[in-house]
Amino acid sequence: MKISDPKLIAAIGALGVEHRVGVSLAPKTSLEIGGTSDLLVIQKHESLPDLIRLLKEEGVPHRFLGGGSNVLLPDGELPWVILQLSRQDPDVRFEGNNVYVDCAADLGRTVTTCAKHDLGGMEGLIGVPGSIGGALRMNAGAYGTQIGTFVREVQVYRASTGRIETLRGPEINFEYRHTSFAPDDIMLTVRLELPSKPYSEVLQGIRICNEKRRASQPLNQKSAGCIFKNPPGGSAGRMIDELGLKGHSVGDARVSDRHANFFINAGHASQADMLALIADVRERVRDKYGVDLEEEVIVWKTR
Ligand code: EPU
Repeated sequence: MKISDPKLIAAIGALGVEHRVGVSLAPKTSLEIGGTSDLLVIQKHESLPDLIRLLKEEGVPHRFLGGGSNVLLPDGELPWVILQLSRQDPDVRFEGNNVYVDCAADLGRTVTTCAKHDLGGMEGLIGVPGSIGGALRMNAGAYGTQIGTFVREVQVYRASTGRIETLRGPEINFEYRHTSFAPDDIMLTVRLELPSKPYSEVLQGIRICNEKRRASQPLNQKSAGCIFKNPPGGSAGRMIDELGLKGHSVGDARVSDRHANFFINAGHASQADMLALIADVRERVRDKYGVDLEEEVIVWKTR
C-alpha cells in the first residue's frame, strides 16, 4: 500500500519515522516470499503510539513486521503499510544477572553476547532465526529451552490501550509456541534474568546445539523453521516423513529432504504455493493419523 497524501507524509516525518516507498518485503523474511509496500521505520519507541493513532485517524491499514522469520506474506502490492522498529544502540545492556534487550535485536547474537558476560540458559535457542521480539511472541524454544522462562518484564505497545506499558513476567502467559500477547501488541524491550555460567561452558552448550541443529535441519535454505506445531505428545516432522512426503512440492514450495516439518522456498515460491502445500500435507496427515496439525508459521492473509 502506498502513502501518497503529502500532509500525512509530512506528519509521519514530523514523528521522526522514516517513510520508505515501495519496499520489496521478500528479502525481509526468511522464506523470501512476499510483495511490496511502503515501509515506516520507527527510530524511537516513544513515537509508536502517535504513529499508530495517526494511521488509524487517516484510515491507513497497517501491520507490524518483526524479524520476518516465522511469517508468510502475500504476493503483489500488500493492502497494509508495514511498520518496523529500527534496532536501538546499544541493543543489549547488562545489570548483574539482568539483561535489558531491545526487541529488534537478533536472538542468536543476543545469546552469544550474554555468553561473553558469563550468562547462560539460552544456549538451546542458538540458531533459532529472528528477533528477540518474535521469539517472545511465539515463546521460541528448542532443545528443552523456552525464552519465556527467563522473562521478567516486557515493555510493549498495547494495541488495546494505545499506550506503551510494562508487563511483569507473571502477567504474561508463556505456553508451547503461544503467549498471551495480543496479535497487534508490539514488543519493545525485555528484561531477562539469566543464570551465571562461565563463558567456556555456555560456548560448549552452544556448540552442541549447533551440531544437533545442523544434523537435522535445513539451515541454509529459505524456510520459516517448523511450519506446524507439534501435536500434543506427537511429532509433525515424523508423521510427514512417515507419509513419504520429503521432497513433495507445490510449485517452488517444497517439503525439506532433511526435516519434514520444514517447508522450503526452493526458488520463487508464492504464498499460494506454500498455502497449497500446507493444506495438502495437513489433509494427508488428517487422513492417515486423524490429527489436525496447527500452523506455527503466521500467515498474513489478504482476505
Ligand atoms: N523426525 C523424523 N523425520 C523428520 C523430522 C523428525 O523422523 O523429517 C523425528 C526425529 O527423528 C525425532 C522426532 O521426529 O525422533 C522429533 O524431531 P526433532 O528432534 O527434529 O524435533 P521436532 O519436534 O521436529 C522441535 C521444534 C523445533 C526445534 C527442535 C529441537 C516444533 C514444531 N519444533 O522439532 O523448533 O528446533 O524441536 O528442539 O516444536 C520451530 O519451532 O520452528 C522449530 C524448528
